[in-house]
Amino acid sequence: MTEEDYISFNRTQWELASDEYQEEHDSDLSGERAAAWGTWRIPEDELRLLGDVRDKDVLELGCGAARWSIALAERGARAVGLDLSTRQLEHARGLNRAGDVSLVQASAHSTPLRTESFDVVFSDYGATTFADPYQTVPEVARILRSAGTFAFVTSSPLLMMTWPEELEEPSTTLYRDYFGMHRFEFSDGVEFQLPHGEWIRLFRANGFEIQDLIEIQPPEGATTTYEGRPLSWARRWPAEDVWRLRKK
Ligand SMILES: C[S@@+](CC[C@H](N)C(=O)[O-])C[C@H]1O[C@@H](n2cnc3c(N)ncnc32)[C@H](O)[C@@H]1O
Repeated sequence: MTEEDYISFNRTQWELASDEYQEEHDSDLSGERAAAWGTWRIPEDELRLLGDVRDKDVLELGCGAARWSIALAERGARAVGLDLSTRQLEHARGLNRAGDVSLVQASAHSTPLRTESFDVVFSDYGATTFADPYQTVPEVARILRSAGTFAFVTSSPLLMMTWPEELEEPSTTLYRDYFGMHRFEFSDGVEFQLPHGEWIRLFRANGFEIQDLIEIQPPEGATTTYEGRPLSWARRWPAEDVWRLRKK
């Protein structure tokens, strides 16, 4: 599958899935759970990855209905939400009636955004999951200002190794190789993940300093509307990685 093919495939999949996704996850993505990370919705107020966003230029890569960006605009950010999918952006327009968030339709691997125009770029299972990191990371380095923050959450390499498509949830068996992991072609979309050492070399090659890698352990009693996320599994092993980086 070429780059054009996978982007167009993912776009088609999100056009088809958007309405159901928004309905199914509405309660997990709204209100206090809007500005929160990953499938367990760990609050930004707890992790504090983005810092004080007041008067900052903030870009969300793969914003979906832009609930995160709307919450950040309410905190005083000049927020921009970028997404590949027309239907996802229609949901965003419906929620962004006040027009507080600027919405852009593009693929994160090659954006129409100006060089060094953002203080913060982030993604919550957005384009850093669905676009090739070897293109997205250099693009983020281009559009971020010096000392800017790049933070994102996505599934961990361990989850990708232990969860084959035919199972409904992750297992305790290693089905896939760790070395060489990159592109995962599922029936409903293409995702990306790299071994940790590969991520680190990619970040450093693009001028990022690594500030943190948070392997999320959801608290006892945590809930999620996302399927295939047994709490018992995620309490024992990291299902999600959050990277926090600073552009030098
Ligand atoms: C799982 S949703 C997450 C969105 C948001 N965080 C939420 O929870 O609603 C993934 C989003 O990434 C978008 N996306 C997929 N590939 C993309 C790409 N190459 N560039 C920009 N957005 C992309 C999809 O259209 C979708 O809206």
